[in-house]
Amino acid sequence: MTDFDCTPQVDLEFMNAEHRKAFDDANEIKRLLEIAKSDLKGVEKSIDRRLDRLLADTLNHFFLEEKYMEEYQFPARARHQQAHQQFMETMKVEYNHWQSEHNLAAAMRLERYVDKDFPEWLVNHIVTMDTVTASYIARHGGGAL
Ligand SMILES: [Fe+2]
Ligand SMILES: [Fe+2]
Repeated sequence: MTDFDCTPQVDLEFMNAEHRKAFDDANEIKRLLEIAKSDLKGVEKSIDRRLDRLLADTLNHFFLEEKYMEEYQFPARARHQQAHQQFMETMKVEYNHWQSEHNLAAAMRLERYVDKDFPEWLVNHIVTMDTVTASYIARHGGGAL
């Protein structure tokens, strides 16, 4: 489990709020997947709902960052946007795999994703691209975002 409070904060509050949501979504799915090991039927609808939320929250998170990168003309916005896009492709593969299988093996695969791949990518992305982006926007008049 990745604790949001242990990850470095960036200079824009809206981004910190989006990151907290992402870790909360992933941790909640992980909690449900733990229950799935003994009662898959009992939690599969809840997993579906939370996974939909993780996807929607991530799309919104990236949309907001990209909107402000454009508005404040952040110089490396194309590369940052490309990193988001690649990450979304992987997430959609994991999402579709779970939706088409809905069995224990798929639950275990999803657990690896929300417990490892997702938080690892996110932490790395926050301490690199997001940190630089937030600092740039904050210094160019967007400090209150
Ligand atoms: Fe972000
Ligand atoms: Fe980002």
